[in-house]
Formats: sequence, structure tokens, C-alpha cells
Amino acid sequence: MSHESEFKYFENMAHWSFDEYGIHEVCLTDWDLYGLLKSYAGPDSRILDLGTAGGEKILEFFPDCAEILGTDYSPSMIDTARANLAASGRKNISFKVMDNLNMDVPEGHFDIVVARHTCTDPVQILKCLKPGGHLLIRGVDKHDCWNLKLIMGGGQGWNEPVPVSIVDYENVLKAGFADVELVPIHTREYFKDRETFKTFLEAVPILIDVAIEGSPLDDDLLDRYIAANTVNGMIVLYRRYYGLTARKPVS
Ligand SMILES: C[S@@+](CC[C@H](N)C(=O)[O-])C[C@H]1O[C@@H](n2cnc3c(N)ncnc32)[C@H](O)[C@@H]1O
Repeated sequence: MSHESEFKYFENMAHWSFDEYGIHEVCLTDWDLYGLLKSYAGPDSRILDLGTAGGEKILEFFPDCAEILGTDYSPSMIDTARANLAASGRKNISFKVMDNLNMDVPEGHFDIVVARHTCTDPVQILKCLKPGGHLLIRGVDKHDCWNLKLIMGGGQGWNEPVPVSIVDYENVLKAGFADVELVPIHTREYFKDRETFKTFLEAVPILIDVAIEGSPLDDDLLDRYIAANTVNGMIVLYRRYYGLTARKPVS
């Protein structure tokens, strides 16, 4: 997907919510982004959330502290985030439009940078962190829903020569971060019926280039996947994410 069409995709998703799909999620591993964030943050912390979308994760999971800035390159997402903030009554939180790849934030300012399911430039992130500051990334890995992608013949990450988790890991090390750890995250998502599952797949980027930008989702292939991956009446998606922690060296 081109940079421009990805931007348009997110601009049109400013009011997205996954609640309507009634997904039951089971996590098989124990890397917990928000648990780590709470363990690193204190009342004086300054936190930057890159690719914040409508700020939903900040408002629900980020701890109260001195400053939280949420940024996104989509102006519609930032409008939604500001409306969500006003309704929440939370303090010390602001949002602004910013491209993660062309960051416009003060140097050496933040204690923690969070980037969940968005792109990053570790060199620019390192600059805006205080010495000793933490970077927390969670991403969708190449082999996310791989058994579905094999049946469909493509999807997000299909043509990546190196999984994005490894690219991130190498770039974070190369930027000069210390204490870099890359951890796989495995979850299973259960869907109650075919219609909900199909609507979900047509709305999210998992099958990008196959079911969103290209032709509509192929019903025969979908049925083949469902037949092979239904457990106790529920359709299962095998999700593969990754968590990455790193720290800016003190000197
Ligand atoms: C999948 S959503 C993740 C939202 C949120 N972080 C979460 O975990 O729910 C990805 C977000 O990253 C934003 N995004 C993608 N590329 C970006 C870029 N280059 N600069 C800033 N934001 C970007 C999109 O607009 C979208 O809101």
C-alpha cells in the first residue's frame, strides 16, 4: 500500500471501533504494553504516543502524569482524539497532527515514547527522549494470520523480505538504544459467525492488497479457511504481534 493510500485509509477510519465484532481475544503470551508503561511512568513523567489514532488507548490505559502528547498524521484522527478527550474529563493530555517520520517535538523532552501498531523512526525517537528514557513499541508482525494469508495468496507483510519485527529491532539498535528486547506476542481471536468475520476482514488491513485494495474477498477461499479453523463453533484468527522495549543510554 502506498504512503498516500495508507494515509487516506486512516483518514476514513477516524471513528473506527472493534466493539461491533464482539471478538473474544485470548493471549497466549505475557508481554503487556500497558503494564510496562505503568511500571516505567511516575507522576512527573512526560509521555509521547505516536500514531495515537482517536486517543482511545491513551484515555483508557495511560496513567495520569505530568504530560501526555498523542500525535497522528491524520487530521481526522486528531479531531476525534480531541473530542474523545473533551468527553473524558482527563487532564494533562493534548493531541497534535504530526508525521512519525518527520517528528516535530522538543529534543530530550520525553521520559517514555509509545508506538503501538504504527510506523517509527528510532533515530528521531532517540532525540526526543531524555537520557535513560524508555521506548515501547508494539507491532503487527509479518506472520500475523499467516495461515489465512496462505489461503488468500497475500496480505499485510506478504512481500516483506524481512519481518517488520526484525527491521524494527535492527533499526532501534542501530539508532543507539540500549537494553533492546524483542518479544513475540501470540493471541487468538474468536468470531461468532461467518458474516461478522467477513465484515471484520473487509474493514481491517490484514488482507490489504487482497480484499481491500484489490478484488473483494473470495467467498470460496473464505469458506475454506473457516472450515479448517473453526473450534467449538467459533472461527479463529491466529494473531502474531511483537513487543519491543529499549532505553536511551544515560551518557
Ligand atoms: C492501527 S492504528 C493504531 C492506533 C493506536 N496506536 C492503537 O494502538 O490503537 C495506526 C495509526 O497510526 C497512524 N499513522 C500511520 N502512519 C503514520 C505516520 N507516518 N505518522 C503518523 N501517524 C501515522 C494512522 O493514522 C493510525 O491512526
